[in-house]
Amino acid sequence: MENGLKPMDAEQLRENAHRMVDFIADYYKSIESFPVLSQVQPGYLRDLLPDSAPHQPETLQDVLDDVRHKIMPGVTHWQSPDFYAYFPSNSSTAGFLGEMLSAGLNIVGFSWVTSPAATELEVIVLDWLAKILKLPEQFLSSGRGGGVIQGTASEAVLVVLLAARDKALRKFGKNSIERLVVYSSDQTHASLQKACQIAGIYPENYRVLKTSPSTNFALDPNVVCETISQDVAAGFIPFFICATVGTTSSTAVDPLSALGKIAKAKDMWFHVDAAYAGSACICPEYCHYINGVEEADSFNMNTHKWFLTNFDCSALWVKDRSALIQSLSTNPEYLNNKASQENGVVDFKDWQIPLGRRFRSLKLWMVMRLYGVENLQNYIRKHIKLAEYFEELIISDSRFEVAAPRTFSLVCFRLLPLACDQDDGYKLNYNLLDAVNLSGKIFISHTVLSGKYVLRFAVGAPLTEERHVKAAWEVLQDQATILLRGL
Ligand SMILES: Cc1ncc(COP(=O)(O)O)c(C=O)c1O
Repeated sequence: MENGLKPMDAEQLRENAHRMVDFIADYYKSIESFPVLSQVQPGYLRDLLPDSAPHQPETLQDVLDDVRHKIMPGVTHWQSPDFYAYFPSNSSTAGFLGEMLSAGLNIVGFSWVTSPAATELEVIVLDWLAKILKLPEQFLSSGRGGGVIQGTASEAVLVVLLAARDKALRKFGKNSIERLVVYSSDQTHASLQKACQIAGIYPENYRVLKTSPSTNFALDPNVVCETISQDVAAGFIPFFICATVGTTSSTAVDPLSALGKIAKAKDMWFHVDAAYAGSACICPEYCHYINGVEEADSFNMNTHKWFLTNFDCSALWVKDRSALIQSLSTNPEYLNNKASQENGVVDFKDWQIPLGRRFRSLKLWMVMRLYGVENLQNYIRKHIKLAEYFEELIISDSRFEVAAPRTFSLVCFRLLPLACDQDDGYKLNYNLLDAVNLSGKIFISHTVLSGKYVLRFAVGAPLTEERHVKAAWEVLQDQATILLRGL
């Protein structure tokens, strides 16, 4: 590599990284000028880039020019203040700096010995976060439990499902897998279904229990009890209940205490998925939503959603770490080391699917230190206030309705169908979604609740202010007027 960029050269790094930081800072400064949802067609990039990699090095300037003109049109701007789709995925200066440091050190911290600080900082910051959330002591590293950073909530639910499955198989015999049954609601994230598929749970043994507006789309413990009783009578083995605090469609909150008690009585694993709403529970006024977490075996929150920690960083706590380790541990000779054998150190490779792992705790640590708990709480409160404001705007226009109770920073709403509407507003709201997203001015997403096509307005991007919510509402109102005029 005589010409161009060397793989490692401190001065070249300094110069080029400064240019990259400038590029990113300029991007954040001008982020509102981009269409929030990328407007390109599938395959657009194939026509813009060469068929094969360059034989000779190019310059960073060439690459950045291509990023500007060819990549940026194909980017959906998740950090835009006008992004209200899905759930937010926060970037922040602290999170970004932590990512940068992690990229710079570029360690692969699968065992304690491969970088003791990576393991020990992860243990400490997850204890910190557990204390902020007031999780029961059993989830802290000082006892039999502890926290671990997974990449995503999907990985979190998979690893605990594997631990629960193996615990059940040890008890009932390895041939009993065909009788193992999992319970959740029809509002549970699809990651549990995927976890069941991977874990070899028979598809017909995953009970997706129906919810309704009568419980605000929360899981009814009576339905769980009845279903479990029927299953036991039929010779099945109930072994896993997943509850959600803040479901993806409407942020429903399942009753943790009641579900946890059922799980305990039947010796089942109880997992709580608070991927999105866990962040809100750092505020004293919202932490009651996780009352009952003391019954849980595992608890998960995505700090990369609404906790200013750049993707990816999903915090998982378990009460009994040995259950995870029994399922996921392997000990090949080439990884053997004195510390693992003698000192009882944590080797996080045994708490997750892959071997290699990034130094993700750095960014979570920096977020907590550089913002502090009080600012993080105020950050959550601000978004919830903005969602309340949007909800008031919806209520003020009789053409719209709020379609599910708002609990956190998500508002589910829809344009009311006219009396002559054949499909209860399905097409009307589908077209409204399409029109506002095509405008490039805002990006929202949708769901279906009780058969109704519903629009989701999830406040939570770090740059969103009241003026953005007001402007978003005007975009929705204008497009609704155009659509209704055309009917
Ligand atoms: C409640 C809930 N659980 C799980 C997930 C899956 O998250 P991840 O992408 O981290 O796997 C989501 C994603 O939005 C979610 O809302």
